[in-house]
Amino acid sequence: MNFHILTLFPEMVQNTLKTSITGRAVNAGHLSINAVNIRDYAFNKHQSVDDYPYGGGAGMLMQAEPVYLAYEAVKEKIGGRRPRTVYLSPQGNVFNQKMAEEFSEEEDLILLCGHYEGIDERVLEEIVTDYVSIGDYVLTGGELPAMVMVDAISRLIPGVLHNDVSAEFESFQDNLLEYPQYSRPEDWRGKKVPPVLLSGHHANIERWRREQSIIRTYERRPDLLKKSCLTEKERLWFSQWLSENNEKTRSDSKSENED
Ligand code: ADE
Repeated sequence: MNFHILTLFPEMVQNTLKTSITGRAVNAGHLSINAVNIRDYAFNKHQSVDDYPYGGGAGMLMQAEPVYLAYEAVKEKIGGRRPRTVYLSPQGNVFNQKMAEEFSEEEDLILLCGHYEGIDERVLEEIVTDYVSIGDYVLTGGELPAMVMVDAISRLIPGVLHNDVSAEFESFQDNLLEYPQYSRPEDWRGKKVPPVLLSGHHANIERWRREQSIIRTYERRPDLLKKSCLTEKERLWFSQWLSENNEKTRSDSKSENED
């Protein structure tokens, strides 16, 4: 998959993405990162890319033409097709795992990073296919959000993670959070590894992990649990667990009140 990142800070993007797993995936040919400097397409004396907004208001806007020419250069490079083009903005749809999966099917993806107070609306209308936010807060530019997207999408591309199954089974698969994990030592400062994990009984281990995922999702992200698909057997087990634990909570708080 080829990521084309239109930015005023290409080094920021290149330097970050050349490290760790994305860097290794680039070297192995699973993906490419093409950081395009929008300033290279500012054909004026001072290579400026921003100007005052019509109608007044605070700050500067990125002008339409350099952004458009940078986009056209990418389009030409990939044979004239109009690739999916994401504008990173707090006004976009909030990024999630499902979107990462969908984007990972693309051959080419343009990520457009804004700065200052944003970008002239006319070029956005012309080139943008998707508006994406990474959460309800405002950052100084689109580079960090673009890198968040590259990271989340890359790990879904076959071959990028050594272990292909791990991308499938981690958090958010089936809207359940990942179960707790343990490594050596078996006893760490008096805290023991759950015995089932040492039993070697694979079916029991699988069942325990699935149950832990359900409990964890219930406790930390109840909104996700509503969207998950539990089997009939799991539903029964969970309602039993809930009644036992609600009883326990009730009797715990009763004895606290009596103390
Ligand atoms: N640019 C500035 N803030 C952003 C956010 N929260 N998500 C995506 N792009 C942004």
